[in-house]
Amino acid sequence: MPYTLNVNGKSTTVDVAADMPLLWVLRDVLNLKGTKYGCGIGACGACTVHVNGRAVRACQTRVSAASGPIVTIEGLSAEGTHPVQQAWQEIDVAQCGYCQAGQIMSAVALLQRTAKPTDADIDQAMNGNICRCGTYLRIRQAVHRAASIGATNTTSQPAPVGPRGEE
Ligand code: FES
Ligand code: FES
Repeated sequence: MPYTLNVNGKSTTVDVAADMPLLWVLRDVLNLKGTKYGCGIGACGACTVHVNGRAVRACQTRVSAASGPIVTIEGLSAEGTHPVQQAWQEIDVAQCGYCQAGQIMSAVALLQRTAKPTDADIDQAMNGNICRCGTYLRIRQAVHRAASIGATNTTSQPAPVGPRGEE
């Protein structure tokens, strides 16, 4: 069945089954490989993307339910100039990197609703994103740094996202 999606600002039509997870549409149909498959059961956060301004788990979101604009890690900034991307690079957060696209998308959602999050805010918001390399302390540091960059950055605005939407 055809579905017209707005992905990273571009309209595209995909012809897939209604129950296909958005994760497979992004990765296998649209070739957007930045969004990762970790667990497939909504338990790790590696597949986090934004749908209609909410951070959701793409492995648990059917394409038929993905109404509204979709933003993936590729859609934040092609040049890596988004404040969260900048902060992640400055703090050198990633180890293996596998979980980091999902971490970044959750961090962007957090910063959109809380411009200056506390450590507790960060820990709560990022709780569903698992990192097997244990980069949690640097993630926390990078979120603070992104908040600082975002407050002074006039050329790169975070994507318009709202509260995290768990499935
Ligand atoms: S792949 Fe783990 S939550 Fe989606
Ligand atoms: S950086 Fe390796 S799983 Fe998070």
